[in-house]
Amino acid sequence: QPEPAPAPAPTTEASAPAPAPAKVYVVGTDAAYAPFESQNEKGEIVGFDIDVVSAIAQKGGFEVKFVNTPWEGIFNTLQQGDRDFLVSSITITEERKQTMDFSNPYFDARQLIAVRENSKVAKFADLKKLKVGVQTGTTGDEVVTQLLGKNSTNVKRFESTPLALQELQAGGVDAVVADNGVVENYVANNTGAKFKTVSDDAFPAEQYGLAVRKGNTELLEKLNKGLADIKADGTYDQIYAKHFGA
Ligand code: ARG
Repeated sequence: QPEPAPAPAPTTEASAPAPAPAKVYVVGTDAAYAPFESQNEKGEIVGFDIDVVSAIAQKGGFEVKFVNTPWEGIFNTLQQGDRDFLVSSITITEERKQTMDFSNPYFDARQLIAVRENSKVAKFADLKKLKVGVQTGTTGDEVVTQLLGKNSTNVKRFESTPLALQELQAGGVDAVVADNGVVENYVANNTGAKFKTVSDDAFPAEQYGLAVRKGNTELLEKLNKGLADIKADGTYDQIYAKHFGA
């Protein structure tokens, strides 16, 4: 004789306490910075940074929601509480550390110059008298402004790095200075643009960090713990290989 099937569990809301909803952190990112953060054809935010943060969240048992946020003003959205933290290939700098806290570094970077294939530029100092495109308020903007001078009209500032690179193709600027990973990715994926890259050891080493509001140690510890965990268990290496090759 088969056992009678057990009565189905009651499904009315009153019968069981709802599980506490998982905390959802709102994460700001300027998604025009492939391969770190960009939007795919479906409008989804994807990239190395996105995979790293998603893996950290999965390890830590919390949820994240990525919100595309223009770079200019991205730090304000953090200060104002509109975003809980930021992942946006953000270089950890002494100046930024005054107004926000950073996780442990998760990626090494350096500035890289993009020029048209026929350019004679061979080193950073060669840009001194040229028109140089940068993304406003980035570390690229900082180094170029330093070289060309604060009041130089030859520093051409753009809302996004892709816009600066498009202007290089159009001939409006002679060079673009931006993070190496992004410049390399653009040059590799836009062979029609006929660009080449010029590296220079004069550029300081940079490291990316996740940014939280100053004093938000609870979240910072969660992020650092998750980062350490995904580095220890090989997840970070897998994500790295997916985006940059082994
Ligand atoms: N690493 C550079 C900086 O911190 C550029 C970052 C730009 N990021 C972006 N998603 N547009 O200034």
